[in-house]
Amino acid sequence: MKIGIDKIGFYTPHLYVDMNKLAVSRNVEPEKFTIGIGQSKMAIPPISQDPVTLAANAALEILDNEDKEKIDFVIFGTESGIDNSKSAGVYVHRLLGLNPHARAVEVKQACYGATAGIQMAKGHIALNPDSKVLVLGSDIARYGLNTSGEATQGAGAVALLISAEPRIMELEENNVYLTDDIMDFWRPIYSDKAFVDGKFSNEQYILFFEKVWEQYKAKTDLSLKDFEAICFHLPYTKMGLKALRAVLDEAEEEDKERLLANFEISRKYNRNVGNIYTGSLYLSLLSLLEQKDDLQSGAKIGLFSYGSGAVGEFFTGILQPNYREHLHIAEHTQLFAARKEVTVAEYEEIFQETLPIDGSTLELDVTNDPATICLAGMKDNMRQYVNKED
Ligand code: CAA
Repeated sequence: MKIGIDKIGFYTPHLYVDMNKLAVSRNVEPEKFTIGIGQSKMAIPPISQDPVTLAANAALEILDNEDKEKIDFVIFGTESGIDNSKSAGVYVHRLLGLNPHARAVEVKQACYGATAGIQMAKGHIALNPDSKVLVLGSDIARYGLNTSGEATQGAGAVALLISAEPRIMELEENNVYLTDDIMDFWRPIYSDKAFVDGKFSNEQYILFFEKVWEQYKAKTDLSLKDFEAICFHLPYTKMGLKALRAVLDEAEEEDKERLLANFEISRKYNRNVGNIYTGSLYLSLLSLLEQKDDLQSGAKIGLFSYGSGAVGEFFTGILQPNYREHLHIAEHTQLFAARKEVTVAEYEEIFQETLPIDGSTLELDVTNDPATICLAGMKDNMRQYVNKED
């Protein structure tokens, strides 16, 4: 039985800041952000969007009534969760009107959470072939104004429907993974911003990729020539390029060219959204699938997942016949086209807006937020969500 990705949804907030303008206001040469970091636009979440709403909006566009009935497991990967106890998956389960007889949990290991969710989903489908699992990767990346990480912020979510006989990508076996207790990036529970040892995190990311790639080759006897493309977790898009370059010397010229050309396509969406942590790898996969119209079914795609702290995994998938018919290309083109630019000053103001933490009531005006599912306010320390279609 094949198990894999049956549908992929994506959502990013409707606001963004231009990286050229952010660079000017930070007294940095724009090329540092656009080439050195590899980012063009950074998604800005208004206060009416949080990781729950981003994920729910991403899932909303892909699920039909049959999916809602068959999903019996919601796995929410996030590292910017809103509650230390209740899982974000439970809110999404309600907002989407899923079958009550489902499990809903949250999984955490930095940007690796959604990958862990996918692997758990595979096991669940193997035991329950008729069921479907909704895996969500949703995050808001925050380092702080005027920090070196600022240019690598972002916000968004990816929703993956995992099932038997998937219509987009079969996930193969032979995964290789690695854990090492390091402090490259972390966020203590008292902080809403991440702490990071930037240079160390870059080094560890590449080291993890090299290690799992070596292990994969030893386990499978495959090499770079067997891959149409390799997609990476993209904390900023130059990071994936650095990792790819670290192994490219192993390849023949034509394989090098193909992998580099496909990498460029796989970073298009991420370049315009920023880091979405748990969803970043899958946004890059989506970028490749939706933006490369001559990608053939049967192609083998490599996926490198990295979650600081750290866990890394390399795994592969095979594109299924007619997979393009099951993508949401028009919706995503429209999502990007409808975004509105904010100035750096407006971004800074939005960044500093906070929700009450004293139990007081806040009502948010959601009429200016085009998302279907929004955070409408706070009451008695409870977030109030609204699905405008209900
Ligand atoms: N034109 C072109 N390139 C320029 C330039 C110019 N005018 N000026 C500078 N650059 C280049 C630099 O040469 C450098 O390129 P290389 O890395 O290829 O050498 C690049 O721009 C960045 O410059 P710096 O290294 O000086 O940048 P920095 O120190 O200010 O910050 C950073 C970079 C460390 C990545 C920082 O943004 C950061 O800490 N980000 C958050 C952490 C992160 O994303 N780590 C990635 C691995 S961890 C992970 O993957 C998990 C996760 O999601 C966080």
